[in-house]
Amino acid sequence: MAIIIDDQHRIFTLQTKNSTYQMKADAQNVLLHSYYGEKTDSSDKSLLYWRADRGFSGNPYEIGKLDRTYSMDSLAQEYSCFGTGDYRITSLRVQNKDGSQVSQLRYVGYEVQEGKYAIPGLPAVYAQNDEADTLILRLADPYSGLEVELYYGILTETDIITRAVKITNPGTDDLVLQKAASMNLDFEYGDFQWISFYGRHSMEMNFQKEHIHHGIQSVGSVRGSSSHQYNPFVILCEDGANETMGSCYGFSFVYSGEFLIEAEKDQLDRTRLICGIHPDNFSWTLSHGDSLWLPEVMMTYSGNGIGTISQNLHKTIREHVCRGKWKNKRRPILINNWEATYFNFTGEKLIEIAKQAKTLGIELFAMDDGWFGNRQNDDAALGDWFPNEEKLGCTLKELAERITAEGMQFGIWLEPEGISEDSDLYRSHPDWVVGAPGRKPCLSRCQWILDFSRTDVQDYMIERICNLLDGIPVSFVKWDCNRAICDKYSGMLDSSRQGEFAHRYVLGLYRVLEKLTEKFPEILFEGCGGGGGRFDAGMLYYTPQLWGSDTTDAIERLSIQYGASFGYPVSAMGTHVSMVPNHQTGRVTPLSTRGCVAMAGMFGYELDISKLSAEEKAEIKEQIALYKKYSDLIQNGDYYRISSPLEGMCTVWEIAHPSGKEALVSAVYHHVQANPAPIRVKVQGLNDEASYQLSLTENFKENYPNRRLPYGFGAGETITGAALKQVGFVVPEAANGFQAWQIYICAK
Ligand code: DGJ
Repeated sequence: MAIIIDDQHRIFTLQTKNSTYQMKADAQNVLLHSYYGEKTDSSDKSLLYWRADRGFSGNPYEIGKLDRTYSMDSLAQEYSCFGTGDYRITSLRVQNKDGSQVSQLRYVGYEVQEGKYAIPGLPAVYAQNDEADTLILRLADPYSGLEVELYYGILTETDIITRAVKITNPGTDDLVLQKAASMNLDFEYGDFQWISFYGRHSMEMNFQKEHIHHGIQSVGSVRGSSSHQYNPFVILCEDGANETMGSCYGFSFVYSGEFLIEAEKDQLDRTRLICGIHPDNFSWTLSHGDSLWLPEVMMTYSGNGIGTISQNLHKTIREHVCRGKWKNKRRPILINNWEATYFNFTGEKLIEIAKQAKTLGIELFAMDDGWFGNRQNDDAALGDWFPNEEKLGCTLKELAERITAEGMQFGIWLEPEGISEDSDLYRSHPDWVVGAPGRKPCLSRCQWILDFSRTDVQDYMIERICNLLDGIPVSFVKWDCNRAICDKYSGMLDSSRQGEFAHRYVLGLYRVLEKLTEKFPEILFEGCGGGGGRFDAGMLYYTPQLWGSDTTDAIERLSIQYGASFGYPVSAMGTHVSMVPNHQTGRVTPLSTRGCVAMAGMFGYELDISKLSAEEKAEIKEQIALYKKYSDLIQNGDYYRISSPLEGMCTVWEIAHPSGKEALVSAVYHHVQANPAPIRVKVQGLNDEASYQLSLTENFKENYPNRRLPYGFGAGETITGAALKQVGFVVPEAANGFQAWQIYICAK
C-alpha cells in the first residue's frame, strides 16, 4: 500500500517506488509537513526538527503561554493560512463576513480511497484502481467553519504524487477566498536552486536556473492563460544537481489559466514553495454549501538528477494525462499551409499542396487560418465559423472530400475563443466580448476574446463547431488562441464576483473541449496558443499535442524544445520543417537539420512544396520514411538530454527504447568552430552487457563524403552498453554550418 497511516500518532506516510512524503497532525491539530524526498521508512520525521523561541514569531493563543517555541511562522505546514501568525507566503487567504482576513486550519480527519481521485470540470491525472491510491486529509477553521480537503493521489510506479484541494463553506455567512493555492510545500532545510522557463511569443521555454535566495521568487501569469512568458512548471534541486546526479523535485501545474508559483527562503533558511491560481485576478465567494475545487499539481522527486524528473513527468503525461485514441498512437505526418500561403490561398491551391504532399509520404493536410467568413487578414471574421465558399471555390465538405479522395486526411484550424470587431458574431452579440462596461477593451492582433465564462457562449460554440464538422471527413483540429486576456469582466457575473472571471473562463474552455473531444473521439486535436502560449499539462488532458512555438527556425527550436523537454514529453509538441530563409529569423539551415530537429516532436511540414527542388523533395521523402521507421521509439521512448543548446557547440539528445535494445541520438551543431574539440556522447538507457553497433541514419549517410567516422560506426565495430555509458562515442564532425546527425544505436 502506498499510504501508511499511524493512527495513534496521526502520521501519514506516502510511499512511491523511490520517494517518501510524510505529514503529521500534531497535538494542536495542526497538520505538519514532515518530509518529502528520497525513500525512507515511515517513522516520525517531525521529531528530527528543532524548534526554538523566535522573537517576533508569535504563538497560537492555546499554546502561547506554555510553549513559546510553537509558532506558525516557523512550523513546516502542509497548508498554510494568512493572517494568524505565519508571515511567510501562505496558501490560503479568506475574507470572513466581518471583513477580517484571518483563518486557521486544524486537522479533523482523513479518508483513504482506492484509485486516483478525479476533479469535476478540471483536468487531472487518471489511473487504474490498481495503479494509484488517494488520501484525503480534512481540515477546518474552528471559527468560520470553512472546510479544506487536501487530496493526494499516489502513483507509485512513476514516483508521482498529485495534490488538489477542495474548499467548502458549510456555514451560513459568505466567505470570500482571496487566495487559494493548490499546493504548499515546506522544506525544513536545504539549499536549493530552482529552474523555471520564461519566454515570449515565438521564443518560449527558455531555461533559467537560479539560487533560491532569502526573499520571494516567483513565476506566474495574469494573462488569462498559462502564457508564453512563464510556464507553469518548475524544478527545485539541490546545489550541484545535474541531469544524472542530485536530489530534485518537479512541480507541474495541471492548469491552463493564470497561475503563480512562488518560493520563499525564510528567516530560518527554510524554503516554502506554493503553487496555485494567481491571486491577483482571483477572488471566489463561497455561500452556504458551496465548494470550489482547485486545480491539480503533479509532484515528483528524484535522487538521480533532473533527467529522471523529466522522465517521470513524460511517462505520467503520456499515460495518465493525455486521453483518447491518439494518446499512444502514431500521429499522422502533416502538412500545414500557414507558412506556405498565410491568408492568401484558394481551394485549388490547398488541394495542390495536399496532392504534392501525398507523393512525398505526408499523411494529413491541415488547412490553417483564413478559410472562414470574410477572413482575408487577421483584422476580421473571427467568430464567423462558416466556410468562405467563394474563397475555397466549393463547400467545406467538397474541399475535405477532394483532399481525402487524394488519400490524404483533412484537418482544420479554429480559434473559437477569438472574436473580431468586424464579424457577424460581434454584430449580433456585442455583449459576448470580454470587457468592462463602458470601456473599449484592448485589442491584440486586432481581436477580442469571447466570454467563455458564460454558459450561453460555450453552448453556442459547441453547437457551431459540431454543425461545422458534422458529416465532414475531418481528422485533425488545431485549436488556436492568439491573444492574452485583459479588461477582465463578464456581464453574467455580479460586480462582487468579477474576481471569479478568469477561473470561470478556464472552466468554460475545459467544458467546451470536453464536449467536443467526446463528440469527435476520432479527431486528433492539437492545442495552440499562438505557438506555446498555452503549453501546459492541463491542455494536454484535452489535446494530446500542442503547437510548440510560432518559431519554426531549427536552431531557435533547439532551445525551445530543450526547455519543453524538462517537463513535457516529445509526444506533446508539434514540430514542423519549414522553408529557408526561415520566416521568423531569416536563418538558413540545411533541410536535414530542420528534419532532425522536427523529429524531436510530432512531425510535420509547413512549406510550399511547389517551391522545392527535386533534390529537396527526394530528401523529404527520405525524412518521412525515416520518421515512420523510428516513430514509436521517438513518441514513446525514454528521452535524455545529453547536452544543452545554451552551451558549447552541439546540442545532443537521445531517445532510448525502455528495453535498452536501441536508441536514436540526434546531434545538431548550433555553433561551428575551426579545429573543433570532439563532442563526446555518453549514452544512457542501454544494457551494460549488450554490444551495440552505431550507424548514421539513412538520410544522413550521404552527408558524410570523404571523412573518417569515429569508432563504432565501421563495419564489425561494436561497443558495449557499459562502454557507451561510461566512455561514450564521438559525434562525427560538422561538414557544414548547422550540421545535424542522427545516429541509430542498435544491440547486435
Ligand atoms: C498562430 C499559430 O501559432 C500559427 O501556427 C497559425 O495558425 C496562426 N496563428 C494563424 O493565425
